Amino acid sequence: MNYNFDEVIERRKTNSAKWDGVLKLFGDKDVLPMWVADMDIKAPPPVIEALKKRAEHGIYGYPLRPTSYYDAFIDWIRRHHDWKVEKEWLTFSPGVVTGLSVMILALSRPGDGVLVQPPVYYPFFDLIENNGRQVVNNPLILEDGRYYMDFEDLEKRAGDNIKLMILCNPANPVGRVWEEEYLQRLGEFCLKNNIILISDEVHSDIIYSRFKHTPTATISKELAQRTITCMAPSKTFNLAGLQSSVIIIPDQDLRNRYKQLLKNIHIDMDNVFGMAAFESAYKFGEDWLTEFLIYLHKNLEFTIRYFEEKIPGIKVIEPEATYLVWLDCRGLGLNTRELKDFMIKKAKVGLDDGSIFGQGGEGFQRLNIACPRKTLEKGLRRIEAAVNSMVSSKR
Ligand SMILES: Cc1ncc(COP(=O)(O)O)c(C=O)c1O
Repeated sequence: MNYNFDEVIERRKTNSAKWDGVLKLFGDKDVLPMWVADMDIKAPPPVIEALKKRAEHGIYGYPLRPTSYYDAFIDWIRRHHDWKVEKEWLTFSPGVVTGLSVMILALSRPGDGVLVQPPVYYPFFDLIENNGRQVVNNPLILEDGRYYMDFEDLEKRAGDNIKLMILCNPANPVGRVWEEEYLQRLGEFCLKNNIILISDEVHSDIIYSRFKHTPTATISKELAQRTITCMAPSKTFNLAGLQSSVIIIPDQDLRNRYKQLLKNIHIDMDNVFGMAAFESAYKFGEDWLTEFLIYLHKNLEFTIRYFEEKIPGIKVIEPEATYLVWLDCRGLGLNTRELKDFMIKKAKVGLDDGSIFGQGGEGFQRLNIACPRKTLEKGLRRIEAAVNSMVSSKR
């Protein structure tokens, strides 16, 4: 191992949402934060070097994306996801969520339906509702510890005035890597019903070794023309605070509509640090990612074993992708309020409560395992102690 992922780095007093936001969010400064999707792990050294170099230049005027920026991304996507992306298809968004909001505004009208598959990344709901569109749910089905799309239900949604679908591929929080046949069927549904498919693929580089990510747009040429793909180095290399994402839109008309709105609200300009980090990550981050994924896999195995052996009342839904682990806590027999209180007040861990992820999320919690093993173990020990104490007090 060339990188020390075991290093515990103090993040308090760094203006970190995850760590410095604990008191406000959970009401107790001693809660161990294992919620929002960033890592307690340093970014790849070449990225840190690129940022230092850029900082030392001392002039931070308006930036311009160079050809090397595009080349770094195009090359990464070709090598990692077998997808030949053209430079002209690429456009920008600060964060992926900003881009999703722009898409909703640019490509649908107030009152239109936007399809989602809960339990799913909760800002999707806010974006749709706050922009005056309607959430149309096509809930995932949980069967024997694995999630599946419900195509029978999907067909019933066809009449719901749906203009857009926001797909999470791979899926957060359920950790599912969608296979080609699922994407194919979903794509057929969208094409048949004239729905633009927005594929949020921000987690597509965090894939466990037995699985392979399929970019939705690679399913067919026809589907590529109706698909908008969101990617970023933010999750892959832990750069979320640098706010630099890429939006891939092969169809010229859709691309123009997206870009026009981006321009109208003047958020099409990158930031100098985000750009420097983006390019160096995709160019030089490969070794780091390879090693990080091995470390993460061990964290996952540790987590699975820990729950199996010491906290059997909580079942781990084994993720195929993402560093987010979806915990089935229904066996604890607590309602939504009680479960949330239990994790915060009794276990003193700050997780994401399952209910925020929409239908099917009640009784679940989302745990972020992208941290040094020691931190992970600390969190799991806290949950174990709280569960044991609850069980013994019931006896
Ligand atoms: C599916 C998904 N999309 C988007 C984001 C965040 O995007 P950004 O911070 O770039 O707006 C996350 C973060 O957890 C996510 O899980």
